[in-house]
Amino acid sequence: MAVDHTAVAHPNIALIKYWGKRDEKLVIPNADSLSMTLDVFPTVTTVRVSPDERADRVTLDGAAAEGEPRQRITAFLDLVRELAGRSEAATVDTRNAVPTGAGLASSASGFAALAVAAGAAYGLDLDPTALSRLARRGSASAARSVFGGFAICYASRGISADADLNAYAEPLSVPDFDPALVIAVVNAGPKPVSSRAAMRLTVETSPLYWPWVQASRTDLAAMRTALRRGDLDEVGEIAERNALGMHATMLAARPAVRYLSPATVAVLDSVLLLRADGVSAYATMDAGPNVKVLCHPADAPRVAETVRAAAPGSAVVTARRGPGAGLRTR
Ligand code: DP6
Repeated sequence: MAVDHTAVAHPNIALIKYWGKRDEKLVIPNADSLSMTLDVFPTVTTVRVSPDERADRVTLDGAAAEGEPRQRITAFLDLVRELAGRSEAATVDTRNAVPTGAGLASSASGFAALAVAAGAAYGLDLDPTALSRLARRGSASAARSVFGGFAICYASRGISADADLNAYAEPLSVPDFDPALVIAVVNAGPKPVSSRAAMRLTVETSPLYWPWVQASRTDLAAMRTALRRGDLDEVGEIAERNALGMHATMLAARPAVRYLSPATVAVLDSVLLLRADGVSAYATMDAGPNVKVLCHPADAPRVAETVRAAAPGSAVVTARRGPGAGLRTR
């Protein structure tokens, strides 16, 4: 009998970014990254093994998936089937509480939820590390959304000669740090270039790429210390420079990739003014124009009001650390 397996996962925001792969097929990053999983914008995915269907049926936010999104999901299902030694088609229904393709890390929550739901549907019995590796094959940032709170994603942990086994995320215990993240959705439309294509172009053409990777390694070590200390100013400074550096690598790509819009820059200016006023507020941006501002929870209302005024018309949502991916039990 066909049974529905439903999983929920949340996006994560990298404080030390992942940008660029050393293996496109296995989706293996060039460098380690570090993130906080959020408690907003969940993805809910249901997978049912459908032996009577000839091909996978994939629905994204209520509409039949087409093109690249469909291809990425069916390729992921092929991988799950290969691991399970099975061949039946699947029916997949995915719902995002966040606009897909707007640079709000929906591929992270999407593939984390799909890994959990498809793994359960096809009877894979995966420990959290194996689940994280599997999610990574869909999207490297998804490896981190398997876990709640803070997570570090290793590009190469060096336990095996097999590159696939060495790349996975694990939770990072950060007991003394519980910030707020004010998200300014300045533009919820689809992005001009997919992050996948943009990172490939950056690796291939940007003279700033490898220096940034090098700096990122130093940033990661400093970030771990700052998180352990629970020092928001230090965490924020490192996260902000790491994100701006990542965007600099893209701006130096040929042709340049520019995700930051005038509204992004207006929000960045407002964050500087908040800091000048003594508020600990630090910005980070992913492959899109939206800005996420790290701050003390007590300052979040003021930060939200300030960024809303800087980019009128933006939706502003305040997030905290959220849970890892898991099956929804009814
Ligand atoms: C800018 O994980 O979406 O958000 O592995 O090609 O699917 P693929 O890329 P993806 O890239 C995320 C990049 C980022 C930074 C980050 O989340 O670390």
